[in-house]
Amino acid sequence: MNKKGFFITFEGGEGSGKTTQIKKLAAYFEKQKKEIITTREPGATLIGQQIRQILLDTDHQFSSPLSELLLFTVDRLEHLASVVIPALKAGKIVLCDRFVDSTIAYQVGAQKVSYNTFNLLNKLIKIKPGLTFLLDIEPEEGIQRARARAVLNRLDKKKLVFHHQVRAKYLELAVQDPERIKTINVMGLSEDQVFTKILAHIKAIGEKL
Ligand code: TYD
Repeated sequence: MNKKGFFITFEGGEGSGKTTQIKKLAAYFEKQKKEIITTREPGATLIGQQIRQILLDTDHQFSSPLSELLLFTVDRLEHLASVVIPALKAGKIVLCDRFVDSTIAYQVGAQKVSYNTFNLLNKLIKIKPGLTFLLDIEPEEGIQRARARAVLNRLDKKKLVFHHQVRAKYLELAVQDPERIKTINVMGLSEDQVFTKILAHIKAIGEKL
């Protein structure tokens, strides 16, 4: 029988701690001798790195949210074709920092791209995560954490109302698809406490991994 891979994505606003939790989960799987890769959007491929630069440069001002959406989609198609799908076919667990839910939260939720337009382009994306962790944080706290950690990018720098719209859309998605999207409220929790919650979900689907 062919080994089947498993696709896990991490979502959340700025400063929600996705990167740290992905590292912890990767270390956990490695200890179990599972084959895994960690990856992210945008910017996991050479072409994607250039697209990422266009998307996140603070000097860039998009006149149309549609061009932004198209660039995220091109990044995703390259990423799927050259990284994610080959890894899944090889039976690996793929841990990915952001995926389609980010597009719905940021481009549909906050940039006000219509669902019709999103759906049109999203038909090109043929795979869906088996499990998604939504690390939920109040934008005020998240931005503060992100600022302490690194220089803010073009999207980080959007007004608070933008980040509240992102969060609201994420929470809406999680309500619509509770089987796949596991929401973890990270406020007031240590990194280890968040990871304990993630592990509980991982153990619950143990058979599939
Ligand atoms: P990044 O520095 O990777 O942010 P983070 O550390 O918060 O994940 O920047 C990626 C930015 O791109 C982030 O602000 C979210 C945004 N984004 C979209 O707007 N749409 C998308 O489809 C994706 C994948 C990301």
